[in-house]
Amino acid sequence: MVETKAAWKRIIARALEGYAAEKGVAAPMPAADAIVLERPPTSELGDFGFPMFPYAKLLRSAPALVAQAVARIVERDPAAARLGGAAAEGPYLNVRLARPAVVAEVLARAGSPAWGRGSALRGKKVMVEFSSPNTNKPLHLGHLRNNVLGESLSRIMSAAGAEVRKIDHFNDRGVHICKSMLAYQAYGEGRTPADEGLKGDHFVGKYYVLFNKLMEEDPKAEEKAQELLVRWEAGDAEVRALWQRMKDWVIGGIKETYARTLVSFDLYDYESDTYQLGVDSVLSGLEKGVFYRNEDGSVWADFEDINLDKKVFLRKDGTSLYITQDIGTAIARHEDWPYDRLIYVVANEQAYHFKILFETLRRLGYAWAADLHHLAYGMVNLPSGRMKTREGTVVDADDLIDELASIAAKEIEAKGREDAVGDSRAVSDRIALGALHYYLLQTGPMKDMLYDPEQSLSFTGDTGPYIQYMGARASSIIRKHLAGEGNAVKGDPDPGLLASDADWELVKQIAALPEAVDSSASAMEPSIMAAYLHDLATAFSAWYRDNPVLNNPDADLAASRIELVKAVKASFEAACALVCVPFLEAM
Ligand code: ARG
Repeated sequence: MVETKAAWKRIIARALEGYAAEKGVAAPMPAADAIVLERPPTSELGDFGFPMFPYAKLLRSAPALVAQAVARIVERDPAAARLGGAAAEGPYLNVRLARPAVVAEVLARAGSPAWGRGSALRGKKVMVEFSSPNTNKPLHLGHLRNNVLGESLSRIMSAAGAEVRKIDHFNDRGVHICKSMLAYQAYGEGRTPADEGLKGDHFVGKYYVLFNKLMEEDPKAEEKAQELLVRWEAGDAEVRALWQRMKDWVIGGIKETYARTLVSFDLYDYESDTYQLGVDSVLSGLEKGVFYRNEDGSVWADFEDINLDKKVFLRKDGTSLYITQDIGTAIARHEDWPYDRLIYVVANEQAYHFKILFETLRRLGYAWAADLHHLAYGMVNLPSGRMKTREGTVVDADDLIDELASIAAKEIEAKGREDAVGDSRAVSDRIALGALHYYLLQTGPMKDMLYDPEQSLSFTGDTGPYIQYMGARASSIIRKHLAGEGNAVKGDPDPGLLASDADWELVKQIAALPEAVDSSASAMEPSIMAAYLHDLATAFSAWYRDNPVLNNPDADLAASRIELVKAVKASFEAACALVCVPFLEAM
């Protein structure tokens, strides 16, 4: 469809030139890619339309007159004749495409393995950092939003032609890490996650929470945590050994959660590996006057000129801070893999942090600081009263997925679908993820949102399971056909037969996929893909309710519609993958 639209823009541009020549207007006419294309309010008016207002002044004619003249010229254009027909409607020129040719092309494209790919980011190198947990506790609901945003955006950008590198940054150094270590020293008695039957991340998280108890019992606990950090930064072997042990537990547990939620990375980086580069960069920036030293020895920079505060980069004891390591991390990344863009998917609470970070890198003289982007997202809450977790405040990611999967399993049971779905445990997990991911992506990232588990799991409405269900319907039609059921086996497919308005609307919805991928990638908005899927599901649902496929008495029409269902299925599969909603053959 992209090519067809481009071809029509060229036809219109030529016609405008023709009209200008007739009228003796010397002013240059707009180039083809500057021609505005719109979708008419109803499809009866045409497949797309061109408003003539923008050219009226140039051509010194009323828009409606321009439309008529252009229609007259287009009628004689042989390229236009192959692609359909155009008619003036008031100030618009509306185009009706030649359906059989477009249908044949769309079906052919949807049948190729490359279906669902766009081209907006061809040749670009994009690094996407997401998830990036601290290594002192398990993932929570906010991480689930982060993870699906990052994973989905990466898949979409890569589908739009970019070379994408997905990075997870573990903040594995700092006072917060030392706190869980201190609490473990106080209460752990050398136990391991296996001893307590806990996932490693949950085990360490338990001790991080126990630090609160330690503070009640030991007024010096905070101070001790800071001392432990000094020893850690000095490379104290004993401290490092405990640190490494606890860090491996946490990361092992977190990676299990990634695997279960379909999230993966090309590279893991660790604050502990890059913070020193951050320290060195701050010290050399100090010589260049980018930073200044306070009397107490701490190192600062002043951002008043851009209406931000003063900010500390090195503590008086020389230990580094969150911002310090991010400087080192950014420099190391750009050296390692020079990119066109680096996107940090991080909660909007950190907007200030990233402003300071990007500005500091710019002041340090890195031109690529202009290619850094903070993709901020809002908070996720559950309806009040749901799921009190062990910590009482945050909702644990693993617990939530378990709960969603068990609700989905009950639903399968209630519908008596265990046999139909096959491995009902695996399918419940996949429905749970479909529900969660779709719900989290459907809203644009910036807004805070309420996650309603029951609503997200509903099989009707604007939900993941509804989309999975429609995908499964398409699969089931094809399965039956391949098993020899229905009338289509007796017919021959012919795209020319798919010319009814109903078939045509569905074809256009299929054809819109590559453009949806491109606009989603360019806007960095996975919600555009979610909306595409919902439109496809509703279009397919209406179509197959009213248009018999397998049992169509006309065998050739039945066979042609099977081809259409295959294209629908291919589009579901491609688009579902981009929003991390598992495709289901049966449900
Ligand atoms: N670990 C941090 C947190 O949990 C987020 C890290 C974001 N990424 C970064 N490069 N600063 O708040």
